[in-house]
Amino acid sequence: MTEHTEHKCDCAEAYLDIEQHIEKHRGDSGALVQVLHYVQERLGYVPKEVQVRVAETLGVSLSDVYGAITFYSLFRERPRGRYVISICQGTACYVRGAPEVLARLEKELGIKAGDTTDDGLFTIEVVRCLGACGLAPVMTVNKDTHGRMTEDKVPAILNFYRAQAEAESQVAGD
Ligand code: FES
Repeated sequence: MTEHTEHKCDCAEAYLDIEQHIEKHRGDSGALVQVLHYVQERLGYVPKEVQVRVAETLGVSLSDVYGAITFYSLFRERPRGRYVISICQGTACYVRGAPEVLARLEKELGIKAGDTTDDGLFTIEVVRCLGACGLAPVMTVNKDTHGRMTEDKVPAILNFYRAQAEAESQVAGD
């Protein structure tokens, strides 16, 4: 099995564990954030059907669950891609052309910031500062940093990760 950035699992065992964990907190509305953490840890995101289950079991409204998910930026409602592209839109990057880089990423991948490609390969995320302003505009792909980005560099970088994913799946015999 190839290594992915995030542990994403939709296996029955994970859902069983989640079910038991939620059940353990039946009626305990104060455990909401902790329970959501657990789900996120197990699945890499908090699916809609699990949000409903959490709300029913803990005795909170679905909007409370949704509110917690949107308030804490670490929670996600959808699985992230194998490669998470974080494109900085902080001031230093912004003035040096980060919006054009973002627009090119969206165009090349056919998705908007915050979304994941249908093949599960790429997610685009917008961040406010990656702490590497001297390299502005900056984006990261998982742990790799790409500094002094231009929109023209985008296709080659995406192709590099596509090829990497392809090579890894061949090694894994996918
Ligand atoms: S503003 Fe982009 S890295 Fe700091």
